[in-house]
Amino acid sequence: MGSPEIRLEDVSLVYEADGSTVLALEGLDCRLAAGQVTAIIGPSGCGKSTMMQITRGFMAPSRGRLSFHAPDGTPLDRPPRMATVWQSFNLFPWRTVEENVAFGLEMSGMPAAQRREKAHEALRSVDLAGFERKYPRQLSGGMRQRVGMARALVLDPDVLLLDEPFGALDAQTRLVLQEQLAAMVARTGKTVMLITHSIEEAVLLADTVYVLSARPGRVAAEVAIDLPKPRSMASTRDPRYAAYFEHIYTLLKAEVVRSMQAPEAAS
Ligand SMILES: Nc1ncnc2c1ncn2[C@@H]1O[C@H](COP(=O)(O)OP(=O)(O)OP(=O)(O)O)[C@@H](O)[C@H]1O
Ligand SMILES: [Mg+2]
Repeated sequence: MGSPEIRLEDVSLVYEADGSTVLALEGLDCRLAAGQVTAIIGPSGCGKSTMMQITRGFMAPSRGRLSFHAPDGTPLDRPPRMATVWQSFNLFPWRTVEENVAFGLEMSGMPAAQRREKAHEALRSVDLAGFERKYPRQLSGGMRQRVGMARALVLDPDVLLLDEPFGALDAQTRLVLQEQLAAMVARTGKTVMLITHSIEEAVLLADTVYVLSARPGRVAAEVAIDLPKPRSMASTRDPRYAAYFEHIYTLLKAEVVRSMQAPEAAS
């Protein structure tokens, strides 16, 4: 079907638990353009993971709508193929690395030999060749996160939803994987939602950055990143990079300060 566009329109989400309610999102409007990387950045607790769960279809919005479109804007009547890397990587502890990566393929009924080949290829792409037979407990946090990434990539989805995929990585590995992700997206043209706390990562990887407000999350600003591609560490020396960084930093800081002032009880 090719990579779709995803729209969230006027989306609100209320959590109800134990008689109390939390308004996580309120009137959020955003568009994940077809074949592009859209980064979502915002204060902790502003509703980013909630937004990803709604996009994935795991939760229905309390108000507003989620829709999928072909690149020309025509509405699609069913959701595209999506793969996710969740904030906590959710590996199965009783399965080897290879079996974790191949899980989705197994569910789709792919024969064992083919699954194995695809899992190995995905593991190579995140520099984990040789770790196929290990169990998650035998890996570092950063390696587990890369297994999570391989598990998403192996499905070859039209849409990749990534919640802090590089959060637990050391700075060097993070850089390498960021560059690999940028190259992969440029090559395959997937639609990507990248939730991150890193302004650097957002500017390096994204075509558009949405800065979310303090909770309840809504779009505080939308910034189009017009830097030449492919981008790499060298892009950070471009004066425009510094200007984007500064601009997003200023917007984000205002929201973080607001989130610290808003008492939790105010929901
Ligand atoms: N299942 C739930 N039940 C009740 N409240 C929830 C639930 N999940 C999240 N929340 C609340 O909703 C708000 C948004 O949570 P969410 O996890 O979407 O934030 P986030 O932006 O991803 O935060 P972080 O940057 O720390 O990952 C928070 O106040 C959180 O406590
Ligand atoms: Mg989160």
